Amino acid sequence: MPKLALGARNSHVVALLRMAPLQEVVLALGLLQPEPLLLAPAEAPSRARSRTWIQKGGLERGKSLKPAPELLRPKRTKAQPSTCPRSVAARAKADPKFGELFRFDTPVLMWDQHFSTGTWERLKARHVPYGWQGLSPAAVGSALRLLNTSSNRRLFDRAAFRGGCVRCAVVGNGGILNGSRQGHDIDAHDLVFRLNGAVIKGFEADVGTKTSFYGFTVNTMKNSLIAYEEYGFTQVPQAKDLRYIFIPSDVRDYVMLKSAIEGSPVPEGLDKGDEPQKYFGPEASAKKFKLLHPDFLHYLTTRFLRSEIMNTQYSYLYMPSTGALMLLTALHTCDQVSAYGFITDNYEEFSDHYYEPEKKPLLFYANHDMMLEAELWKRLHQAGIMTLYQR
Ligand SMILES: *[C@@H]1O[C@H](CO)[C@@H](O)[C@H](O)[C@H]1NC(C)=O
Ligand SMILES: *[C@@H]1O[C@H](CO)[C@@H](O)[C@H](O)[C@H]1NC(C)=O
Repeated sequence: MPKLALGARNSHVVALLRMAPLQEVVLALGLLQPEPLLLAPAEAPSRARSRTWIQKGGLERGKSLKPAPELLRPKRTKAQPSTCPRSVAARAKADPKFGELFRFDTPVLMWDQHFSTGTWERLKARHVPYGWQGLSPAAVGSALRLLNTSSNRRLFDRAAFRGGCVRCAVVGNGGILNGSRQGHDIDAHDLVFRLNGAVIKGFEADVGTKTSFYGFTVNTMKNSLIAYEEYGFTQVPQAKDLRYIFIPSDVRDYVMLKSAIEGSPVPEGLDKGDEPQKYFGPEASAKKFKLLHPDFLHYLTTRFLRSEIMNTQYSYLYMPSTGALMLLTALHTCDQVSAYGFITDNYEEFSDHYYEPEKKPLLFYANHDMMLEAELWKRLHQAGIMTLYQR
């Protein structure tokens, strides 16, 4: 029996799964880890699993991923053409493999106009985060109706950036950043994405200070505040120009989003009574918040991170990590992307996070496929589509 690295505070272990031939999986609900499921392999997970990701169908064969017609109908913000010569899009299109995978016309965000009968009928067939199966139309609709400003329809306004290329840094929380002195380079980007337990104070030289976007699910945000409080993650980043990117992985994300925009306590569900200002600061308004489109999450997962976990009976638990979703969001919106603090081949040399005072091994969660993500980042870097910070 391999040793199971169960978090000390995980008291609600409800099932033990065996995912032959690879690993023991501990399925725990309501635990304090930032992600709901902890995978504890006896040894480092097999690389074999990810090796053939692109052949195996990073691309889902035979299935059209074209957006449904109603997605084309809602008024779009004016196209914001890029004049950046060596952009992510240009590089991706020139690459034989990635040229097939990227579909830059896939909607990234969701806003009020997407709450239509057609979208409901389609998305109710897929479970979260890829759809709305089992969710209350009232909860989803009342959140979406509030996303009615132009800033809800795009991640950023290209017109605000002169000089052609919008350069984005996406900062994961990996131990590789400890002692990296990358803070200055990170802050030199036009836009900086952070996520989950993004500790800044005390690590400015390594991770920078600028934050344009903070990405999360309510589950990962609240669990990060508990699990990483001892390392200084006592507050979600807040600033006047900072924007929050909700990943809709549960009905509670829609419920919290509505309360956050209205600036009122959460009226129902798991987070009932929570004051959104505590997380997002005093300024409650629609323009502070973005919501990733379930179709975008579906597109990313089926094309870029189609894990073998999806072929098991536990496929409903699987989704790309928060970091992966932020990095892929940047790759679909920015002209140039640098990834810092993401998993690399030599991850075993580094601690789980950059802020742990003593080295801890990277934890693998059963609902993510970190080795598949590692392979994707490596290939995107090799193809010149993004820059992966390595050391
Ligand atoms: C957006 O919705 C809010 C709340 O329903 C409303 O007060 C506001 O006027 C709407 N704004 C626009 C631009 O439609
Ligand atoms: C972080 O870096 C410092 C100095 O570079 C080192 O002493 C420390 O052990 C590192 N921490 C971890 C958790 O690896």
